[in-house]
Amino acid sequence: HWTGEEKALVNAVWTKTDHQAVVAKALERLFVVYPWTKTYFVKFNGKFHASDSTVQTHAGKVVSALTVAYNHIDDVKPHFVELSKKHYEELHVDPENFKLLANCLEVELGHALHKEFTPEVQAAWSKFSNVVVDALSKGYH
Ligand code: HEM
Repeated sequence: HWTGEEKALVNAVWTKTDHQAVVAKALERLFVVYPWTKTYFVKFNGKFHASDSTVQTHAGKVVSALTVAYNHIDDVKPHFVELSKKHYEELHVDPENFKLLANCLEVELGHALHKEFTPEVQAAWSKFSNVVVDALSKGYH
């Protein structure tokens, strides 16, 4: 359940940041810090930098999914059924990795927002992140 204030804080994060750039950097961070995650992205052909078109294109897809979650913040799960199924049945991604990407994204948001990334903002964003990770993990249990 979300309070109006929490929603406003998530809204502030989402509207004040360049989603595409932040998500591309978060993906690069994921690949650098947790190198095994690269093995899922065979199609990237070794191109794992934020500026690479492989990562940029993929970041666009992740941004779209996050936008869907953001637009349905009270009820994300039904909107993520197909995406969860895809990660589970087709891509065989270990759901632990969802948390790692969520953390990398949080780091990048903190970087991008600096002083505006207050403890309250971080808490609200982290709650949103958990909702997304939960919805994405739903097909697994
Ligand atoms: C594909 C979202 C986390 C591995 C996708 C797609 C979306 C997406 C929207 C495109 C689906 C399509 O084309 O139908 C997300 C979101 C995540 C997340 C919102 C977490 C917050 C991860 C993680 C991994 C991963 C952590 C692996 C470490 C993949 C792979 C593909 C994919 C391998 C297919 C890429 C390709 O070959 O084009 N994801 N994803 N995802 N995702 Fe995720």
